[in-house]
Amino acid sequence: MENMRIKSLEEYHQRYAESIEDPERFWASIADSFLWKKKWDRVLQWDFNRFDVKWFDGAQLNITENCLDRHLAERGDKTAIIWEPNNPNMQSRHLSYRQLHAEVCRTANMLKQAGVKKGDRVCVYMPMVPEAAIALMACARIGAIHSVVFAGFSAQSLADRINDARCKVVLTADGVYRGAKPIILKDIVDEALLKCQDVERVFVLRHTESAVRWNETTDRWWHEEIRECSELCPAEPMDAEDMLFILYTSGSTGKPKGVVHTTAGYMVWAAYTFQNVFQPEENDVYWCTADLGWITGHSYILYGPLLSGCTTLMFEGIPTWPDAGRFWNVVDRHKVSIFYTAPTAIRSLMAFGEEYPAKASLASLRTLGSVGEPINEEAWQWYHHHVGKGRCAIVDTWWQTETGGIMISPLAHLTPTKPTFATLPMPGVQPVLVDANGQVMEETIAEGNLCIRFPWPGMLRTTYGDHERCKQTYFSTYPGLYFTGDGCRRDHDAYYRINGRVDDVINVSGHRMGTAEVENAINEHPHVIESAVVGYPHPIKGQGIYAYIICDNSTSSEESKRKEILEVVSKVIGPIAKPDKIQFVDGLPKTRSGKIMRRILRKIAEGDTDSLGDTSTLLDPSVVDRIKDGSI
Ligand code: PRX
Repeated sequence: MENMRIKSLEEYHQRYAESIEDPERFWASIADSFLWKKKWDRVLQWDFNRFDVKWFDGAQLNITENCLDRHLAERGDKTAIIWEPNNPNMQSRHLSYRQLHAEVCRTANMLKQAGVKKGDRVCVYMPMVPEAAIALMACARIGAIHSVVFAGFSAQSLADRINDARCKVVLTADGVYRGAKPIILKDIVDEALLKCQDVERVFVLRHTESAVRWNETTDRWWHEEIRECSELCPAEPMDAEDMLFILYTSGSTGKPKGVVHTTAGYMVWAAYTFQNVFQPEENDVYWCTADLGWITGHSYILYGPLLSGCTTLMFEGIPTWPDAGRFWNVVDRHKVSIFYTAPTAIRSLMAFGEEYPAKASLASLRTLGSVGEPINEEAWQWYHHHVGKGRCAIVDTWWQTETGGIMISPLAHLTPTKPTFATLPMPGVQPVLVDANGQVMEETIAEGNLCIRFPWPGMLRTTYGDHERCKQTYFSTYPGLYFTGDGCRRDHDAYYRINGRVDDVINVSGHRMGTAEVENAINEHPHVIESAVVGYPHPIKGQGIYAYIICDNSTSSEESKRKEILEVVSKVIGPIAKPDKIQFVDGLPKTRSGKIMRRILRKIAEGDTDSLGDTSTLLDPSVVDRIKDGSI
């Protein structure tokens, strides 16, 4: 894969130019270094109006042969996965590429025995253990489509996702540790399955040894079923555009959508971006602290690093348990050289003080990454000085579930960085900024909505089961352009700085949430009449959730309603969606056509009540004063 590695800033500019002048030639030369069962007929066909994009059409491959089989000759005994358990006193696990290959094949055979075939959807709802990574590759090995659901989501959210994708099989565990407390995952699955008709089999990994209920028809212990499974499993030949996975993400409507990624383009993009952004070396230990339940986990815990033959570390725990030094202990213990985390984690650790990173050596670190939300200057500097000890490169990587991999980012140690700037686009990425009238701004210094005007291999292909919605969401705002939903600034160096979402999506601790989704959950409370949710700046989470709620005149106290509403939201979505602030109001600022003026609610939530702008179009302007008076 050496031929895909950019080695200098000059080379980056040269490569970037080539990727724009002749994208097909550029991507054909990158794709050449992968293992194909059959090469492509055409590198790229595309149409952003119908939204039809095909990369490497006519080719056949299996991504797991590229992640595993291809490395066996040279790296069979090299560690592929290091697993660091939640409990620091427990042994970590090391799986070599050879062992991982064998486990993936055995698990693939276990799925086959359960009747899973190419094209079937398999839901993965698991803790951060190697078996979760193995599960994903086992699906890919036999051509099944994985749909991972983050194990912090509620039974209701899980059921919705299982049903939308019509998953046939669920892979889960008895329980999951998060910090000090175990959570019984299996109970959540049981509750979800009461609403899911299509699920025929549930494989349960024994992990926390917690007692679980058992359904003799569907449930099987993973360790029992796998016992007799062979370590040989031929890799299913997949067409380049066959689906590899579905991953649900929130948008501005109430219902999360299943973003679909296909096989060849995603593979090329995950590996290409991983290698160039992080610039890994053969003996590096690379650690991305995300959960496999998010796109960052898919692309940069699993696929990118393994495609590149790297050692990837999976961490089950949380940054603050047993104490706020846990990340740094893990870095020292495993000699991590590349560390990739989210600004929210950095900010939460900052709050505990610099003694924690100061106590650790951190000498193995060379590169630090940031992802998921804008990184503020203070957090960037803290990361740079206290974690990187002033000598590590920081790569602030901007991308999305839909983009499959990193789009705008420095290349470690090559691109000069500037705090809070994601800097320059990856080769193949053609960003444009669009003004309020929908015009592309050609001048270098500009600020507007961020769009991409040309396809890149890792882009989403559709949203599962609803192509129209996909077209509508991403290609209708600015015809002919992919709209990211982010606002962005470009400076005199042509560096990009992401300002954050401009739609009704909020980013809470790096978790993406639709305001409508949270409102729908709140509205499930029997005494809630209506609600409106907005984001507001939060010192640690980036954005917090502020909910304005109208209740009926039931006699229960505000305190008990508040508590119940939080419970309802946890139950409908998951604890990550619980509002940070709830203000009970007697009305919402609505226009005469009934539309809620969120701009006003955002201002009030930000504490900026002096510049509310024109409120004369409101049906009842006096409502604003009452909300202002009661704001938290
Ligand atoms: O607003 C941007 C923000 O996260 C959104 C995408 O969220 P999700 O699909 O969950 O993927 C997160 C992990 C890739 C984007 O629309 N975002 C992501 N990375 C950055 C960022 N905002 C600023 N800077 C970043 N580096």
